[in-house]
Amino acid sequence: MNTKIVSVSSENVDMKAIEEAGQIIKNGGLVAFPTETVYGLGGDGLNPESSNKIYAAKGRPSDNPLIIHICRIEDLEKIVKCVPEKAKKVIDAFWPGPLTMIFEKRDCVPRETTGGLDTVAVRFPIHETALKFIEAAGGFVAAPSANLSGRPSPTLAKYVCEDLNGRVDMIIDGGNIPIGVESTIVDMTSEIPMILRPGYVTKEMLEEVVGEVKVDPTILDINCKERPKAPGMRYRHYAPKADMTVVRGEDESVIAKILEMGQNIEGCVVLSVSEHIDKYKGMTVKDVGSKEDSLQIASNLYKVLRECDDEGVKIILSESFSNQGIGAAVMNRLIKAAGHQILDV
Ligand code: TXA
Ligand code: MG
Repeated sequence: MNTKIVSVSSENVDMKAIEEAGQIIKNGGLVAFPTETVYGLGGDGLNPESSNKIYAAKGRPSDNPLIIHICRIEDLEKIVKCVPEKAKKVIDAFWPGPLTMIFEKRDCVPRETTGGLDTVAVRFPIHETALKFIEAAGGFVAAPSANLSGRPSPTLAKYVCEDLNGRVDMIIDGGNIPIGVESTIVDMTSEIPMILRPGYVTKEMLEEVVGEVKVDPTILDINCKERPKAPGMRYRHYAPKADMTVVRGEDESVIAKILEMGQNIEGCVVLSVSEHIDKYKGMTVKDVGSKEDSLQIASNLYKVLRECDDEGVKIILSESFSNQGIGAAVMNRLIKAAGHQILDV
């Protein structure tokens, strides 16, 4: 398959390219597109064949459901059975934006899209190009992150090309992505909403709007024996090719341990906050951003992991970062990338 690559800026959206992309989706094809979180791999969410194509292009197990992206709030009721009162409050506060909600699905949503489940994940993004594209595509775009299964989610179009060139009909290059980790997922089908994947919208932000919010216990406790409620959280996601360890503890102990473990080891790279870069003399270090700025770390994380792959890095030793705000999402992805190899010092 020949993949057409077009550049579209959010400030001045090229509607000719967007109309063409929308037509591809309506004809059952696939288009990768930018959102405010990560790039998505889109197909028609109401067409079972399109969803099957998405799983094939990504190399993803077809029991791992897709998120349907909408561009108008009135479209929500066309695909979900009911919108609970609490969900309405969350919608008022956070949509459009980097938040996905799980609802009971209507019959028009094929099981291919929902991985066989009776529920459907819905997201209303705020990215201008994404919104125009979803509208041109008919309003219901199923999209997982636009990476091959098991690789870090793409935050630049060049990474989408690396993974999906020849596997999709079109890639819309929207430049850099502002957030850099995937949307928060909240299950609204239970009385007390439950976070299934942490993201930019935090538990505290949600609780201000709807009162108590639970967090899937498998996110908090990596030794938890229960199965994660979001099927995708079961897989070793976001994985770089290198063997990766996260070193956790007080700053000074972490630095000392990484110095001890990584000295004179070939192909070893340290992931460090900007403030500690100078501590790792003689070692290869990647700056993930300031320890005071979790959003900066979020937007750099996947890029840095992909760079490690591109450079043939064998061992990654990563500092652990703040758990506050979007930091919770960063640490969730970091620990998954490391396949849960954590060293407490
Ligand atoms: O930010 C994002 O959410 C990006 C952009 C493209 O919108 N998309 C994304 O999709 O991260 P994906 O497929 O990589 O992750 C979706 C996650 C998976 O873990 C999947 O198992 C879960 O959402 N999910 C989807 N539908 C679900 C459902 N009905 N019940 C529980 N989990 C669901
Ligand atoms: Mg993904």
